[in-house]
Amino acid sequence: MAIFIDSSNVAEVEEIVRWGIISGATTNPKIICQDGICGDLKPVIMRIIELVKGPVSVEVTEEKFDGMIAQAKAFSAWDPEHIVIKVPISQDGLKVVNVLENELGIATNVTCMMSLNQAYLAALAGATYVSIFFGRIKDMGYDPQQVISDTREMLDQEELKARIITGSIRHFMDVNEALLAGAHIVTVTPPILKKMTWNPASESTIEEFNKIWREMKAKGQIR
Ligand code: E4P
Repeated sequence: MAIFIDSSNVAEVEEIVRWGIISGATTNPKIICQDGICGDLKPVIMRIIELVKGPVSVEVTEEKFDGMIAQAKAFSAWDPEHIVIKVPISQDGLKVVNVLENELGIATNVTCMMSLNQAYLAALAGATYVSIFFGRIKDMGYDPQQVISDTREMLDQEELKARIITGSIRHFMDVNEALLAGAHIVTVTPPILKKMTWNPASESTIEEFNKIWREMKAKGQIR
C-alpha cells in the first residue's frame, strides 16, 4: 500500500514530503488551475518529481485520439521515467492507453472511473494504474468500497499488472476505507493528509505529558 499526494502546490508538496510518507503524486486539470499554474506547467511538474522521487501523473486535456497522443508524448518527454500519462476513460482513451503502453512503453493512469466495467477495460488495455473516484462514486449513491474490492479481486484473479489508485478522497476516513477495500494506492490532498495526523485524544495526551514535565522542571526536579 502507498500514499500519493493529490496536488500541484509545490509548497505543500515540499512540506509533506518531509514526513517521509509520499511515494508519488497525482494532478488533474482542475487541481492545476486551482493551484494557479495554468501557465507553465513543466517546471512545476519537474519540481514535484524531484520532491516525491516517484511517479507523477499528468492528465491529457485533449478529447480525441490524435490530440491525446500528441499531448501525452509531449508530457512524457519532460521525464520519461517518472511522468505517468493520465488518460480519462473513454473509447478514444482506451485506444490511447493501448498505444502508449503497448507500442511506446509510456505508463498510463486511466482516470475518472466509477465502475468495475471501466476499470476492467482499462486494465485489459494495459494501464499501469486505474484511478477509482471514491467521493464521486459515493455522491451518486453507490458504494466505492465495493467497486474497489471487486476491481482488486479481478486484477488479482486475472494477474493484470494495473494498480488501483483511489482518488476523490473527501474525508480522512475515506483513506482507511479505500485501503481496507483493497486499493494499492490512495492519493490524498494536503488538507486531508494534515487531518490524518490529528486526533483529539493524542493532543490531550501530549499536553498532559508535557505539562507534567514542565511542572517538574519548574520545581528543579529535572535538569
Ligand atoms: C486524482 O487522481 C483525482 O483526479 C482527484 O482525486 C479527483 O478528486 P475530486 O473528485 O475531488 O475532483
